[in-house]
Amino acid sequence: MNNYEYIETNVENSLGFIALNRPKVLNALNRGMVAEILDAMETFDRNDDVKVIILSGRGRCFAAGADIDEMADATAIDLERLNQFTDWDRIAWIKKPIIGAVHGFALGGAFELALCCDLLLASNDAEFGFPEVLLGVMPGAGGTVRLTKLAGKTKAMEWLFTGMRFSANEAMQYGILNRIVAKEVLMEETIRLAQQIALQPPLSIRFIKESVLKAIDSSIYEAMQFERKNFSLLFSSKDQKEGMQAFLEKRKANFTGR
Ligand code: HXC
Repeated sequence: MNNYEYIETNVENSLGFIALNRPKVLNALNRGMVAEILDAMETFDRNDDVKVIILSGRGRCFAAGADIDEMADATAIDLERLNQFTDWDRIAWIKKPIIGAVHGFALGGAFELALCCDLLLASNDAEFGFPEVLLGVMPGAGGTVRLTKLAGKTKAMEWLFTGMRFSANEAMQYGILNRIVAKEVLMEETIRLAQQIALQPPLSIRFIKESVLKAIDSSIYEAMQFERKNFSLLFSSKDQKEGMQAFLEKRKANFTGR
């Protein structure tokens, strides 16, 4: 399955892979690539054979940001008319877990894309940053928002004001990464984590993701009401009956996602 121009996709062992694939320009994200990423994510989200989505980059890096060639002559009206950020909003609606695997650069729009992932692994050569300020602009696809929520105001402003690049170690220190691994085993470790999640009952995973994302943007009370409803909802699933029955019968549960 791969009718895309700027990305490669495939499904293997319950995992849906998306690899950014414009290595000659360090996977610079043009509008076509962003549209393809969203199309692939939504296709995987509808496919029962896919339990977890993995996003990575081909070649030297994850990606060096939005395509500067494509943006250089744009006017404000062009950007508003194209309404290109609606594609990015759709990432938030993906129900399945998305794991990012970053090697080399994840800069600008590519760092924003990495921050849209639910979990993020990086190899020890990874470099993150928002260099937009050096180009006379700023992040426009959620970067100031997501980075601030994760790393806090002080560090976010330092990185955003200076455009400096920072290491995987620093990203780890500020809560941006789940794991740092050697470059040679980045994919292997990402797959290992994804497979651990893929074994779990899909409806639990779906509602946990929804509840955690809800918690980021709501009061504790509102988020707990939401969590409670999702908890109750799981009791109408076959997997809840199967999971608890299997425990009582001291056997392994056979989850079906129903
Ligand atoms: C278009 C890019 C690109 C980009 C690299 N290339 N980044 N093309 N858009 N963002 C191209 C180069 O022009 C070059 O093409 C080829 O990829 C290899 O890059 P080099 O610069 O030769 O590699 P190197 O010297 O190793 O430097 C790597 C780098 C540098 C430090 C990552 O390429 C760089 O600074 N890139 C721009 C990073 C950036 O500013 N990103 C933010 C973009 S704004 P040729 O044809 O010369 O071989 C943004 C806004 C997001 O992301 C808004 C919301 C979506």
